[in-house]
Amino acid sequence: MLDINKAIESLDWKKEPQGLYEPIAYTLSSGGKRLRPTLALTAAECVLNGGLLSGDVPENVLPAAMALEVFHNFTLLHDDVMDRAEVRRGRPTVHAKWDDNTAILSGDQMLIEAYKLIAKVPSDKVQKTLELFNEMATGVCEGQQYDIDFEKRSQVTIGDYMMMIEKKTSLLLAYAMRIGGYIAGATAQQQQALYQYGLHIGLAFQIQDDILDVYGDPKTFGKAIGGDICSNKKTLLLLTALENADAESMAELQRWMTEDRQGAKEKIEAVTAIYDRLHVRQKCEAVMEEHTALALAQLDLLPQNEATERLRDLAERLAVRRS
Ligand code: IPE
Ligand code: IPE
Ligand code: MG
Ligand code: MG
Ligand code: MG
Repeated sequence: MLDINKAIESLDWKKEPQGLYEPIAYTLSSGGKRLRPTLALTAAECVLNGGLLSGDVPENVLPAAMALEVFHNFTLLHDDVMDRAEVRRGRPTVHAKWDDNTAILSGDQMLIEAYKLIAKVPSDKVQKTLELFNEMATGVCEGQQYDIDFEKRSQVTIGDYMMMIEKKTSLLLAYAMRIGGYIAGATAQQQQALYQYGLHIGLAFQIQDDILDVYGDPKTFGKAIGGDICSNKKTLLLLTALENADAESMAELQRWMTEDRQGAKEKIEAVTAIYDRLHVRQKCEAVMEEHTALALAQLDLLPQNEATERLRDLAERLAVRRS
């Protein structure tokens, strides 16, 4: 099996000016689950040689897998500026350790590095891969803009939320599956099933991320708890609470949503207590499980082999993840 961590470590950031490259090295060496490249490589393995698993995943899938991880890390640098988040992967975020300008510019450079890796895709596949990658990247930006717009918008439906998380989070997982499969020779139908699997685990993944932002353990989650509550993010938890609130809880929620960041700790505790009272966590977990089941159903449309089995395990593990 190709080693994505080794491949990422092999990238050289000892270049000038250090102010640009050091934050990139810092970010790419800070761990993370490496979910997106793992998806791309496993998708490739699943469809390789008609699904007969008669060979190792060819090296030529690696640059695209790396590009997906570098792109993901780029989005984190800018996302942490946008969300004013101070901690990620248990360490200070780039804008907290350096400053906003550093996170913006090193982030920009990471996006360029991602495209340099895409340029290494085999020449007969590079044009289509680039097209797919661009569709994904534009979708992520659109999703991020909706996410920010929704903070200030009072009318946001659960449908709006699902559209937003599909763009900001799911597309990258869906296209990771599709691109990995495409480079390894997947048929159009297989690419479709791989994509749909990624899309549904992506939705489940972001819902779980929203849950962990309230109920996670900062030590294992690696991020601060309560950031979404502080910024009135229209997460599935908040929307579910608003949908299920009695008059008293509704008034209380509305009042907290107009509070600024001053009383952060108090706000987080109070809003969490409302969520608890309305059994919001269980309701969100039920939606998450629906999407995990939809993802698993897609796997029946693919060749059945060890890689498919790993995708099955992965979907189940992500639904109960803590980090
Ligand atoms: C964080 O992604 C951003 C979201 C889409 C929620 P991950 O949870 O995959 O982050 P790392 O790479 O493992 O740190
Ligand atoms: C993740 O949304 C989406 C992207 C980074 C594109 P979040 O803002 O919820 O991600 P975390 O919680 O900061 O990792
Ligand atoms: Mg964020
Ligand atoms: Mg965000
Ligand atoms: Mg989050």
